[in-house]
Formats: sequence, C-alpha cells, structure tokens
Amino acid sequence: MSDKYAVFGNPIAHSLSPLIHTFFANTLNEDIEYGRVLVEDGGFVKAAEAFKASGGKGFNVTAPCKIDAFNFVDKLSEAAKTAGAVNTVKFTSDGVLGDNTDGVGFISDLKRLQVKLKGADVLLIGAGGAAQGILYPLVKSEAAKITVVNRTASKALSLAQKVNSDKVEAKGFDSLCGDFSVIINASSSSLFKELPPLDDSFIKKAEFVYDLAYTKEGSTVFTQKAQSLGVSSAFDGLGMLIMQAAASYEIWRGVRPDVEATITYMRSVLSSR
Ligand code: ATR
Repeated sequence: MSDKYAVFGNPIAHSLSPLIHTFFANTLNEDIEYGRVLVEDGGFVKAAEAFKASGGKGFNVTAPCKIDAFNFVDKLSEAAKTAGAVNTVKFTSDGVLGDNTDGVGFISDLKRLQVKLKGADVLLIGAGGAAQGILYPLVKSEAAKITVVNRTASKALSLAQKVNSDKVEAKGFDSLCGDFSVIINASSSSLFKELPPLDDSFIKKAEFVYDLAYTKEGSTVFTQKAQSLGVSSAFDGLGMLIMQAAASYEIWRGVRPDVEATITYMRSVLSSR
C-alpha cells in the first residue's frame, strides 16, 4: 500500500501540493498517495484524527488551519515555535510532530536565485500571515535591516513589535525613505492584480524583486512593474512553494526531491491550464 499524505485547508481544491508531491515521489521512484482534505470550520482535530486512523503518515497544512495544527501536535520544531504556526505534520511512534517549512522554503528560494542578503537593506511589503511567516527567517538571515511597509501602517508596527529586533523597522507607504536592494512583496495585492502603493523610485533602485504570489507566466503585476522599471532580477513565488514542499517531503521521508525539475514541471502544468 502507498504511504498516505495530504494537504489540509479551506478552500483546498486549488492547492498544487498534490501535483508537486506526486511529482517528487515519481522522480524519486517512491510510492506515495497525496490527497486534499477540506477542513470544515472547527473540524480540524476530527479531520486530523480521521486521517491518522486511516493510515496517514503526515500532512501539510494551509490557510486557515496552521494555528489549529500548531495546537494539535505533541512536539514542535524550533521553526514552528518561532513562526507560531505549523505547515507540516508528521505522525511518528514518538507522537505527532509539527514543523514549519515556509521560512526555510523562502530562504532556500532566495539562495537558488542567488540573492545577496548579506548586509542588504530589505523592504518587506505586507503585514498579514504571509509577511509574518517570512519576517523571522529574514531577521535570522544576514540581511542588515528589514523595513516592513504596509497599506495599514499600524499592522506593520504590530508585526515589527512581535519580532522585537533592532534590525526591523515599520513604516507606512507615505513615510517610507531610504534605498532597498531587495524588495519582497508579501502582500496579497498581486492576487487581485493590484500594485501596492510603492513609489517607482524605490523599485528602480532595487537589485532584486520577489513576489510571494505566483502565476503560470512566472511573473506577477508587481514583478512586471519592476521589470518595466529596469529591474532584471524579478521573480514570482513558485520556487518558494516548491522549496517548502521539498522540505516537508524531506521531513517525512528523509530524501531531498529534485527542486529544479519540479519547478520546470509545475510551470508546464500551470501554462497548460
Ligand atoms: P496573507 O495570508 O496572504 O498574508 P492577509 O493576512 O489577509 O493575507 O494579509 C494581506 C496583506 O496584503 C495585508 O498586509 C494587506 O494590507 P492591509 O493590512 O492594509 O489590508 C495587504 N494588501 C492586500 N491588498 C493590497 C493592495 N492592493 N496593496 C497593498 N497591500 C495590500
């Protein structure tokens, strides 16, 4: 019988995780079955117990269940503790382990794209769940300074206060100043095909622009804008999605999938849709 995994969330029909993990397994010659579990409001624990009882080895967790998963597991990894959220659950004879691979997925993708984080002044746009997930890894990286900017400035401030690091500063778009070599859009603006209200002058000076959103074309309205302003290194977040999946796969099965091959495969899947 195949080893059983799944992704839990709501909505879940759009999730690419089953395609990604099945591709990982196929290329590694491993036999897994990876499904989707739609979690009804308040139904996380029941769904997780039922999955375990049916022989599930582990599962991924997406919105809005990452805090439920955090509370569900017996043991938390350091990454899950710092993020305050769990995206990877593993059932073991020692109990239920909770980990979080979003941060490592993000940093690994920046490494893959050869971004210079050492000494960088980073601008992080957004202050929601996605921004929170990558702020801690950025603080732990070699970046010199991280400025969090958000449409609602007070939310940027509360996020910065949570991390409590002198590397982090919070701003509204109106009061933003300075030069940023790396700009990361962790707001959900691209999902609505909108641009954050960031002045072109900041984008023009950036060496690297990254958007956590992804599209079949490999560019978002934000990365397209950056390219039109002369920033040649502007990337969408498909790599991060695949990197975090690869880290989950490794936690479950102890082997590292081929990330580059999976990115190529997923681009072709997305563009045929
Ligand atoms: P996610 O889980 O994707 O982070 P979220 O927690 O709902 O989603 O947060 C969405 C983030 O995108 C917020 O920071 C939001 O800004 P506000 O706090 O001001 O709402 C930001 N956002 C959404 N649309 C935006 C837009 N068009 N321009 C700028 N920021 C936007």
